[in-house]
Amino acid sequence: MKTLVVFYSRTGNTRRMGELIAQKLHADIDEIIDQKSRSGIIGWILSGRDAMKEYLTKITFTKNPADYDLVIVGTPIWAGSCFSDLFDRK
Ligand SMILES: Cc1cc2nc3c(=O)[nH]c(=O)nc-3n(C[C@H](O)[C@H](O)[C@H](O)COP(=O)(O)O)c2cc1C
Repeated sequence: MKTLVVFYSRTGNTRRMGELIAQKLHADIDEIIDQKSRSGIIGWILSGRDAMKEYLTKITFTKNPADYDLVIVGTPIWAGSCFSDLFDRK
């Protein structure tokens, strides 16, 4: 079975989990890049606001999920929601 682990990580925790899971499952791995800068305290505030107001964000990624049998998505939780809830799918 072809497996892909995709992750978004603002501060590295989800990255570490994604890398571990991909290694254990012999899966490919891909990082989701957010078009908004979320670094530092301003990024923290922006992320909390976006999560609470459900402001969508543009993302980019490299690998095509349709090429895989199983896709595992990892994101942090912000204000009780998965960050993936904010991905702009248009
Ligand atoms: C704006 C903001 C809101 C958060 N809200 C929650 C939350 O509601 N529940 C929770 O368990 N953790 C919350 N966290 C903590 C992150 O989910 C946690 O630190 C996570 O491991 C960060 O992952 P990352 O290092 O991959 O970015 C929040 C973090 C941020 C920046």
